Amino acid sequence: MTPIEPNRSRTWHRSVLGAAVLGMGVLLTGTSAGAGSVDKTPFGNTQDGKAVDLYTLTNDRGASVKFIAYGGIITAINVPDRWGKLDNVVLGFKELADYESMNPYFGALIGRYGNRIGGAKFTLDGTQYQLAANNGPNSLHGGTKGFDKVVWAVEPLSSVSGAAARLNYTSKDGEEGYPGTLTVQVVYSLTNDNELRIDYEATTDKPTVVNLTSHSYFNLAGDGTGGIDDHILTINADRYTPVDATLIPTGQLASVTATPFDFRQGAPIGARIRSNDPQMAYGRGYDHNFVLNRSGGGLSLAARVYEPRSGRIMEISTTEPGVQFYSGNFLDSTLVGAAGQQYRQTDGFCLETQHFPDSPNKPSFPTTVLKPGETLKSTTIHKFSTDAS
Ligand code: BGC
Repeated sequence: MTPIEPNRSRTWHRSVLGAAVLGMGVLLTGTSAGAGSVDKTPFGNTQDGKAVDLYTLTNDRGASVKFIAYGGIITAINVPDRWGKLDNVVLGFKELADYESMNPYFGALIGRYGNRIGGAKFTLDGTQYQLAANNGPNSLHGGTKGFDKVVWAVEPLSSVSGAAARLNYTSKDGEEGYPGTLTVQVVYSLTNDNELRIDYEATTDKPTVVNLTSHSYFNLAGDGTGGIDDHILTINADRYTPVDATLIPTGQLASVTATPFDFRQGAPIGARIRSNDPQMAYGRGYDHNFVLNRSGGGLSLAARVYEPRSGRIMEISTTEPGVQFYSGNFLDSTLVGAAGQQYRQTDGFCLETQHFPDSPNKPSFPTTVLKPGETLKSTTIHKFSTDAS
């Protein structure tokens, strides 16, 4: 447990009865040993002077998830290997200034629209909306100042099954070119089953488009240990959305059969990453959305990743229709992570659960339109285990 310094850091403990005790500046007595906790410490100030705290969710098995209010960025996920040793399995920086100035979306909450919108524009109810073109001709991950670059308001939550916190942000009508005031809540929970659960909710006062996701780069062998080529990836998808040279889907839902995109039986990430399939050239590796096999709208298995040396396994379930598999292709040794190592191409991978890229311009894709009176609800669970458990 992180030591408590009054007025500097705060810890919220769950009592034996499971009731949350909030806002206390001192360690509470009477809490059950090993109960989940939420701890808060200062992480620094943004360049424009906003104080940013670091929160640590710790469950009763000692696993922890750390995140900062800036961008809702998950800075560490500490989970056991097959011998019980905890390691951080996500890429990240040491300093807030690095997250502000050079973050390729490590760990961040992404909105209003995760992934690309082609030509940086879309039309809704007859009105065309112009967005920032921040990725060639396209708009990527919400524009110039997306949800990854704003300071979220964080409240620790009561949870009987682990530790949790809610992040709140209200995006003004017209922010980054999107219509409607968008009120967003995201809950991070770390359950006592070593599941990181992310629940998203959003409402709007005008019709708009929304696609929320989380952008952790994983390395299940541990941050800073090198490449992810040997991780065995299974994706529960018979089809994917091929892209053009600017990574915008063509609109086709193509079969993965006999392509490097067939991960249905599990395959090492590196096995076909140098394939001369033109799709792989566009993304310099994998940077594609997979159409998840699912029946109904509930939680369903999207992907499973197994790292043979550590024995760690991550299973991702989601209510979303797609997952973007990005193999860290644009990491180019210029960034140095918290472990003091350079990040090179394929040192981490992302599995971003989401609606399909460019849906606002693709009427055949599942809709990303949100209207007043509706509530967007979306859940993704990352379950960590090992081949020994
Ligand atoms: C995109 C990549 C992009 C990366 C930025 C991913 O979600 O698909 O193309 O380079 O985010 O970190």
